[in-house]
Amino acid sequence: MLKLKTILAFAVGAVFLCAVSAIAAPIVIKFSHVVAEDTPKGIMANKFRDLVAERLGDKVVVEVYPNSQLFGDGKELEALLLGDVHLLAPALSKFQKYTPLLQIYDLPFLFKDMAAIDKFQQGPNGRALLTSMKDKGIVGLDYLHNGMKQISANDPIHGPGDAKNKKFRIMTSDVLAAQFEAVGAMPLKKPFAEVFTLLQTKAIDGQENSWSNIYSQKFYEVQPYITETNHGILDYLVISSTEFWDGLPADVRPVLEECLKEAIVVGNAAAAQKDLDDKQKIIDSKRSEIITLTEEERAAWVEAMKPVWKQFEDAVGKENLEAAIASNN
Ligand code: SIN
Repeated sequence: MLKLKTILAFAVGAVFLCAVSAIAAPIVIKFSHVVAEDTPKGIMANKFRDLVAERLGDKVVVEVYPNSQLFGDGKELEALLLGDVHLLAPALSKFQKYTPLLQIYDLPFLFKDMAAIDKFQQGPNGRALLTSMKDKGIVGLDYLHNGMKQISANDPIHGPGDAKNKKFRIMTSDVLAAQFEAVGAMPLKKPFAEVFTLLQTKAIDGQENSWSNIYSQKFYEVQPYITETNHGILDYLVISSTEFWDGLPADVRPVLEECLKEAIVVGNAAAAQKDLDDKQKIIDSKRSEIITLTEEERAAWVEAMKPVWKQFEDAVGKENLEAAIASNN
């Protein structure tokens, strides 16, 4: 009898302990990204982690995995849908498999500067695009800036003719492929983590990216020329899976949303600053020559690449294209 009582007491105790630890276990949010920590996205992710630690104490823990440590950009979206990671901020060019609409952001020479991008993203069309992948189980939480893209290469690139027959690494976007094909170049879709080696070994001739990525990934050390084309944008969409985000406790989700909003403000400020500073660091390094386009050269790029808008007008939505054009005014 005594033995039975002891067994029962142990069993009840074990159930109690399990219940207490289940209640007390913090929610772990894994935030994976592919860039360095000292970049707009890296800074935003770390700020988010710190704000959540301050405000949600031991209820939520954010773990940040930079530099493709956890998942590279070939796998991170699948991992999100499988629940292996909970927050991502892929470049807007990496969602083609889930929606054609976000490819609006890849159209060359569509946005004249970051202010125009901001205007579009904060307007009704930009906000509506946040939920464009809901049917695929992905929720867009908000945008984050990086900057305008420049073209780096082994040879000096002035006019579009200089890009002819050259191999350029691009993100996984058919619009970006069409953009390079429009100037007779050969685009290759490759993960971000492979770009440095591809450039270093001269397996490719060049790539397009923001100043902060060209600097933080050391592309400028293996690319003797960078042409300041500002031909497109590199921005991000912070996403979660609908299942994970909607399943968060009601007292936690609004606080996370607030933390994210504040972290994005910090990330955007870093983006604006790094755009200037990282370009200057590249100039100071003297490893890479920066080519500034003349007005005629720039006009030639626009003329060569602009037909891509018409090619993708239906895919990105005519009304989105019109709103994007209007955001330049
Ligand atoms: C990123 O900034 O997240 C990566 C951009 C790229 O793949 O070029």
